[in-house]
Amino acid sequence: MQMPATLFELRGLCKAFDADVPLLQDANLTVYEGETLAIIGESGCGKSVLLKMMMGLMEPDAGEILFRGKSVFEMDLEELGAMRKQVGYVFQNDALFDSMSVLDNIGYGMREHTKADDKEILDRAQDCLEFVGLERWRVKLYPAELSGGQRKRVGIARAIAMKPKMLLYDEPTQGLDPQSITRIANLIIRLRAELRATSVVVTHDMRTAFTAANRIALLHDTRFDYVGSPAQFAYHDAEPVKEFIADALEEIQELPFLQAPGVTLPAPG
Ligand SMILES: Nc1ncnc2c1ncn2[C@@H]1O[C@H](COP(=O)(O)OP(=O)(O)OP(=O)(O)O)[C@@H](O)[C@H]1O
Ligand SMILES: [Mg+2]
Repeated sequence: MQMPATLFELRGLCKAFDADVPLLQDANLTVYEGETLAIIGESGCGKSVLLKMMMGLMEPDAGEILFRGKSVFEMDLEELGAMRKQVGYVFQNDALFDSMSVLDNIGYGMREHTKADDKEILDRAQDCLEFVGLERWRVKLYPAELSGGQRKRVGIARAIAMKPKMLLYDEPTQGLDPQSITRIANLIIRLRAELRATSVVVTHDMRTAFTAANRIALLHDTRFDYVGSPAQFAYHDAEPVKEFIADALEEIQELPFLQAPGVTLPAPG
């Protein structure tokens, strides 16, 4: 069997802001091309810090992060720019520019990094809005004129505007109602299916993790010692896994595709 290509490789990663409370200690994790990997873990354990390091926005104390085999921290500005063009980042707080319209928020990367003209940017922004389930006319609105769920979706629209090969989502469903959560989980599944994007989804929402991802990694006690399929996680023996998903276990085990362990993923859509 052919192994899928590796997109990100995290090796021996260490990070501590305070030496007494290390976030990562010799942590290892691989992200394979085409997969959706959910990262779960307690609040404050370092998930957002990890994503920032993957984007080259923050440096680890030790260890390596390789993107397509190249160390993110040895890249020059041009290489870093090229990587960031291929990787869409959905921030934990939607991080939209409040003073810019939805159009300018979504079109920001295209304006900065491509030669696209106004018409192309408008078309692309509207297509992205439609993809995330928002009407095309909303391009002219400002972030303050959108609901929380709509802002989250504009954040995703902005992340996909440059047609990235890979998406990093930091808590894409935080603070949303159940309907919006389902909509965003389905969106992540569609992006994998339609753009063949590789995704890393940091989430507290177990339903999103178990339905949208094909692998789940638990960041626990500074390491990724538990990585497996949703079916493996739903019926895991290890205490840290059982403890972490306990509250959601009933709901998870009721998901149709998890009733029999080892069954394949749900159809996208
Ligand atoms: N720039 C920084 N300087 C100092 N400490 C920081 C910095 N960024 C994050 N931290 C600390 O690192 C720890 C991990 O933060 P992080 O945001 O990665 O947590 P998280 O796992 O994403 O949590 P949550 O699930 O609540 O989003 C926190 O204790 C935080 O205070
Ligand atoms: Mg976080």
